Amino acid sequence: MKILGIETSCDETAAAVVEDGTRILSNEVSSQVELHARYGGIVPEVASRQHILAIIPVIEKAMTEAKTGWNDIEGIAVTAGPGLAGSLLIGVNTAKAISISRNIPLTGVNHLEGHIYANWISQNSTTPEFPLLALIVSGGHSDLVLMKDHGNYELIGRTRDDAAGEAFDKAARILGLGYPGGPAIQKASESGIPSIDLPRSWIRGTSDFSFSGIKTALLRLEESNQIKNKQDAAASFQEAIAEVLVTKTINAAEDHGVKQIILAGGVAANRPLRERLVRESILPVLVPEIRLCTDNAAMIAACGFFRFKAGKIDGLSLDVSPGLKLA
Ligand code: KG4
Ligand code: ZN
Repeated sequence: MKILGIETSCDETAAAVVEDGTRILSNEVSSQVELHARYGGIVPEVASRQHILAIIPVIEKAMTEAKTGWNDIEGIAVTAGPGLAGSLLIGVNTAKAISISRNIPLTGVNHLEGHIYANWISQNSTTPEFPLLALIVSGGHSDLVLMKDHGNYELIGRTRDDAAGEAFDKAARILGLGYPGGPAIQKASESGIPSIDLPRSWIRGTSDFSFSGIKTALLRLEESNQIKNKQDAAASFQEAIAEVLVTKTINAAEDHGVKQIILAGGVAANRPLRERLVRESILPVLVPEIRLCTDNAAMIAACGFFRFKAGKIDGLSLDVSPGLKLA
């Protein structure tokens, strides 16, 4: 079953064709990073206007690349939320237009659920096995989710303030390392030593996270000229975030007796985080391919396949849902 996936929740316009929820036939992403870099962050109105320009060419490219005609597409999966309202609208309305004109069933996908499914299309040695614990770390979320089956989610922990990716972005801004912050911090860290003692928020007795304290600590050090070496500061920051994420994820996995841990979301592209989780966990850990960690439509199509299989068809009544929750 070939599914066309469409993703426009934030600043990437993406389309992909995925077969049977596991095989990527095409995966096109048109990034707006350069457009927003000059503002130091995403400007929602600029993002939606760019999606309008990019969406049709990106879908056509994905179809051509997959060597697929419209008659071969058996379902359309589109991100319905969470995300920027104006951006989501472009994807959802384009998906509806194709659905009605080509008579193809439509399903709306939760963006975070999509991130989880990046693990089904990655070249891993094993496939995900339930029950599993997913750590979803992106620009907007840091969630620990217990997944007992396809479509079955229980929120175990979440951030109480900043998301992990948001913390990376803000730290990079404080250190003047540019945007987007995650890759910039990772790169700077490669030539730094984690020599600065930054605070870790454990919020003991819960699986919740908090990353605003460490961000403020970094800001105070920068304001009082105590940061002599940006690379060392970046390395210290990255190490502190990874330590908290990995320790709390492993503890939660033990508490809930899962078989596996899976990593998902843009921050899952962070190499030291990936390596540390794999190294420290006694349970098997699955991490998506780096290119499938950040926003893409292949993960949305993969998730869509399992939704169609479960009979979850939304049709034209599908609406955007900027604050959509996973569980
Ligand atoms: O999942 P994503 O592409 O978009 C959202 O759904 O938010 O995640 C984007 C976030 C950004 O905050 C970005 O700085 C972070 O993922 N990120 C990284 C890395 N690559 C992207 N954070 C740490 N290390 C990376 N290598
Ligand atoms: Zn995302």
